[in-house]
Amino acid sequence: MRKINIGICGLGTVAGGVVNVWQRNHKILAGRLGQAAEISHIGARRDHPECDTDAYRVSRDIFEVARDPNVHILLELIGGIEPARSLVLEAIDNGKHVVTANKALIAEHGEALLAAAQARGVELRFEAAVAGGIPVIKALTEGFSGNAIESIVGIINGTGNFILTEMREKNRSFAEALADAQRLGYAEADPTFDVEGIDAAQKLTILAALAYGTSLDASHCYTEGISNVSAEDIQHAGEMGYSIKHLGIARASSRGLEMRVHPALIPDDRLIANVHGVLNAVAIHGDAVGPTLLCGAGAGAEPTASAVIADVIDLTHSINCTIEGDKKSTQRGERPGHAAAMRRIMSIEEIDCAYYLRVAAADEPGALSKITQVLSEANISVESLHQKDPLKGAHAHSGETVPVVLTTEVTRESNLRSAVEKIESLAVVRDAVVVLRIESVS
Ligand code: HSE
Repeated sequence: MRKINIGICGLGTVAGGVVNVWQRNHKILAGRLGQAAEISHIGARRDHPECDTDAYRVSRDIFEVARDPNVHILLELIGGIEPARSLVLEAIDNGKHVVTANKALIAEHGEALLAAAQARGVELRFEAAVAGGIPVIKALTEGFSGNAIESIVGIINGTGNFILTEMREKNRSFAEALADAQRLGYAEADPTFDVEGIDAAQKLTILAALAYGTSLDASHCYTEGISNVSAEDIQHAGEMGYSIKHLGIARASSRGLEMRVHPALIPDDRLIANVHGVLNAVAIHGDAVGPTLLCGAGAGAEPTASAVIADVIDLTHSINCTIEGDKKSTQRGERPGHAAAMRRIMSIEEIDCAYYLRVAAADEPGALSKITQVLSEANISVESLHQKDPLKGAHAHSGETVPVVLTTEVTRESNLRSAVEKIESLAVVRDAVVVLRIESVS
């Protein structure tokens, strides 16, 4: 049996974690590998201050690794789309198996890359691309593979979760909490990806493709970020027994598939509502297994390395025959795009949900009844109604304005939206209505 050689491209945070964990756990890993395997070649423009790479060949051109005939598994850990896409394609073309932590690459080009890998008889693995160290891809493709997946509801962006946690626990504004996240190195280089939900939509797209066979195309996912979530709403929600979390939701029903990323209120007594800070959590509900919750670090050098190394170990078991020349892909999970035609992705207007509304109402007799009358005419049942202390200043156009916080029973989103338009047109309503969805995660 030949020894498997691993090539690593990029030597940033994640790759540094892979090298260090690989070296530290070398003896443990030896007992778990299907065949002997070693890091042999690293491609990186610069060294990592906390990594000892003396034992490996190091190239400054990452493509040298993709062209190295001795490398069997290439780890793409550079991130971004280019040159990562070209590198992965060249590695596949040269008959190498690829492990990547790159969610953007998989969410945008995964179908073409998986097709290229299948055609070449090699594998493309990406456990680390979603929720860092949490083995959520293995859960979907292995542990829960006997289930029809009813829903996936996840906190899949650690930066967003950190910001919302800081806002609730320390009463900070969104801008202050974001500045903290950046100072601590949690936010992506461009924080828009985290706070506007793009990162979470890419991850949800990957999970939905594996669970439902939908296409790897993040543009199908309704995406709303957390930049408009105010400390005031976090406080009101808390007083009613809810936490506001940024969720990625894929839910199947006879009407189609919901795919949405947005902030939502979750009752505080749900486990996922108590996942705080940079932690991620993914609740998967299978028809056979019922509700489950996976929780852990969604980012960071060693948690992400944990997922990358697990993919490498898997490959050392499944590619045994490949190295001997019998190329057969063992890629697991639904084939992305497979069920897309069968399961229509629903628009956000079609979903049924309960809602939190905050209305800036004039502090005058009859204001409340005018608002609730619009809801009643739309057949929207009010679940609770709280008139908060009057606010002076910012929202008050004339006289005093009182925030009225309502929660509704479940209704269709299109119905809710048209009712909200009517509420906003009332003379007693002084500002845009804040609308947040309420999710009851099982
Ligand atoms: N920026 C991501 C997050 C990290 O905050 O979750 C890795 O995907």
